[in-house]
Amino acid sequence: MSKRPWAPDGWRSRQPLQQPEYPDVAEFRRALEEIRRYPPLVAPGEVERLRLRMAEAGRGAAFILQGGNCAERFIDCRGESIANKLKILLQMSVILTYGVRRPVVRIGRIAGQYAKPRSSEYETVGGQRLHSYRGDAVNGVEPVPSARTPDPRRLQQGYFYSAATLNHIRALIDGGFADLRHPHNWDLKAIERSRRWPENRDILDRILDAIRFMESFGGVHAEALGRIDFYTSHEGLLLDYEEALTRRDAESGLYYNLGAHLVWIGARTRQVDGAHVEYFRGIANPVGVKIDSSCGPDELIALLEALNPDNQEGRVALITRLGAGRVEEALPPLIRAVQSGKRAVVWICDPMHANTQNAEGGRKTRDFSVILDELTRTFQIHKAEGSRLAGVHFELTAEDVTECLGGGEDLTHADLDRNYETYCDPRLNNAQSLEMAFLIARLLQT
Ligand code: PEP
Ligand code: CO
Repeated sequence: MSKRPWAPDGWRSRQPLQQPEYPDVAEFRRALEEIRRYPPLVAPGEVERLRLRMAEAGRGAAFILQGGNCAERFIDCRGESIANKLKILLQMSVILTYGVRRPVVRIGRIAGQYAKPRSSEYETVGGQRLHSYRGDAVNGVEPVPSARTPDPRRLQQGYFYSAATLNHIRALIDGGFADLRHPHNWDLKAIERSRRWPENRDILDRILDAIRFMESFGGVHAEALGRIDFYTSHEGLLLDYEEALTRRDAESGLYYNLGAHLVWIGARTRQVDGAHVEYFRGIANPVGVKIDSSCGPDELIALLEALNPDNQEGRVALITRLGAGRVEEALPPLIRAVQSGKRAVVWICDPMHANTQNAEGGRKTRDFSVILDELTRTFQIHKAEGSRLAGVHFELTAEDVTECLGGGEDLTHADLDRNYETYCDPRLNNAQSLEMAFLIARLLQT
């Protein structure tokens, strides 16, 4: 890939940010040794297929929907919960397909999204100084010292929860769960209370008509409506873990991270000379990089040079999370730098992470209309600059949580208390996610 030599453990020569400190180092080494011997979760052929699909999205021939929890929880590794996550992404993808008139590539923040970067190492709860919660693969969320101490066995548990989740996703898809003719996929009760339901109902009717048409047309095999591609992704934060799941493909000689199809570098660890970029530059997977408003055009080009020296299509997704108030100023210079450098990139908009606000009582929330605002502006800016938005990235859940404000049911601050569940950032709930899909479909249609 790159001209400079690379090895899966080469990142160790640079001090990685955001890594937990394990009190029991011997136990940590033992856990990693075991993970190194576990079977891969995904196959190189699947990873290559995603890269091709991403290349298509970059060229405007497909559109990417990436979404899921901010932090997955071990306790949610349950059949129903996994099926619901798959279902909401599937429903959204079909609604988007209608709007963009292109195939939608579905990528879950799922089956491994168990590690979180934090702004401070410690937090104080009830007068007690505790390690911050860093995701279920690192420590427990309960605010007591025993739970918050980083525990290496959680890395192994994270692997097995990822494996169980992915196994269930594969079984559901193979078993026809995604079949568009299956009525459960069109149970949209969650948004019938929305004030925009009449317009959405209209789009939905047209989608259902199209499916019936394809079926009666006979040119489409039943299989084509039931078989879908679904890919997994997570933030590649814990480099020891990511390295342990990095395997050399004997046939091609390439190194793949086989813990997920796509891994991304978070905004806090994207330093060009940092350990994360060093690790990511050598794996053959498509990779994402979160781009926050502190990243200028020169830094962006340096990142692309490091991560994709051969300018391979579908290799790098730039996931911008600039903020509704900043995007007008921050995005155009980045787009122009990519254009004048003739860099192949896949632009994805994450309208969640720069629009987080603190509600009363210290809870984090996000406003549906602000999220939509960043997305709308991002789409328009790309269009005006002669560039192309290739996908969207959301934190969402299929459950009826009350974490983000607004949406079709106009959730208010008073509603947040009702069902606020996230371990980390606030997510769009089922109704808000579907509503968002309908709005994007309309936005991209124009
Ligand atoms: C995230 O995606 O949950 C996250 C922490 O994002 P970012 O790195 O963009 O802040
Ligand atoms: Co988040």
